[in-house]
Amino acid sequence: MIAQPKILVVYFTQTGQLRRIIDHVVAPLEGKATVVYEEIVPVQPFPFPWSKQEFFDAMPETVLGKPRNIMPLKVNPDEHFDLVIMAYQPWFLSPSQPVAAFLQSEDGRRLLKDKPVVTLLGCRNMWINAQEKMKRYLQQAGAKLVGNIVLMDKHPNLVSLITILRWATKGKKEAFFVFPPAGVQEKEIVESGRFAAPIQVALEKGNYDQLHAQLLELDSVELKPGLIVLEQRGVKPFRFWANYISKKGGPGDVSRQGRVSMYRAILLLAIPVLSPFTTIASWLKLLLSRKQLGKEVAYYKGVHLREE
Ligand SMILES: Cc1cc2nc3c(=O)[nH]c(=O)nc-3n(C[C@H](O)[C@H](O)[C@H](O)COP(=O)(O)O)c2cc1C
Repeated sequence: MIAQPKILVVYFTQTGQLRRIIDHVVAPLEGKATVVYEEIVPVQPFPFPWSKQEFFDAMPETVLGKPRNIMPLKVNPDEHFDLVIMAYQPWFLSPSQPVAAFLQSEDGRRLLKDKPVVTLLGCRNMWINAQEKMKRYLQQAGAKLVGNIVLMDKHPNLVSLITILRWATKGKKEAFFVFPPAGVQEKEIVESGRFAAPIQVALEKGNYDQLHAQLLELDSVELKPGLIVLEQRGVKPFRFWANYISKKGGPGDVSRQGRVSMYRAILLLAIPVLSPFTTIASWLKLLLSRKQLGKEVAYYKGVHLREE
């Protein structure tokens, strides 16, 4: 009997949304591949729901890539896997802290070395900068990114911002007033099983060269140019505030809470005020430099890492 291919799924999830996405993507592979799950567990758990202050206090270390420690992995880091599915969520335009801790850990890097990796994201809609950081982490670990699947909330940016903040800070996911339920739409989750077919073919052939192109044909990544403009605008200020806040102390320090509150107020004001401008800016960019923006869209949809 020929041994089944082995997949390692590494993930972290606070609400269980990402685990549901994983289960739908992986379900059609049942009986065709052996799937091992590794849930990343922070030593000191992150709260859910978050208090507003704790939520924004998590920003600096997330953006600066200085995550809280995680528990030792259960899986043997030298075990062979044919494919790793790295499932994660962005926090503040960066990989979430537990995921960053895994990617920085010696065991995590050993597991990833020389492995083909498919990234699987469950997010609001701002993931491109997090994925760029992910590409770099994978490159540093000696892994090969061979596919990317992004499930996101397809509602308008400001709508999803309001619903996700309510979910994260109150634990309330359900629809309210004129707002839809928070998170990735159920239809997107249920239909994500379609991505299993090209993964299975690649696993059987032991060749992942065509995988990402095939995933893209199934709309594994949708990217609105306006969101690229918005995210690119956000990266520098996030970095500035991360450094500014962390100069006053570490996570949760009383001495930095004044700056955290300032950041929180400015961010919550800036997003609704800047959103229409960035939409207009992206239309202008589309009109004036359509080719350039088209190239950006193609790049961010891809799995290749651009040299800086
Ligand atoms: C602290 C925090 C920051 C977040 N930042 C982003 C972000 O920058 N971009 C985004 O698309 N989603 C963001 N989200 C939403 C998450 O990516 C994710 O979709 C949501 O938290 C549910 O994930 P989980 O239950 O799998 O952990 C953020 C969530 C949290 C809790």
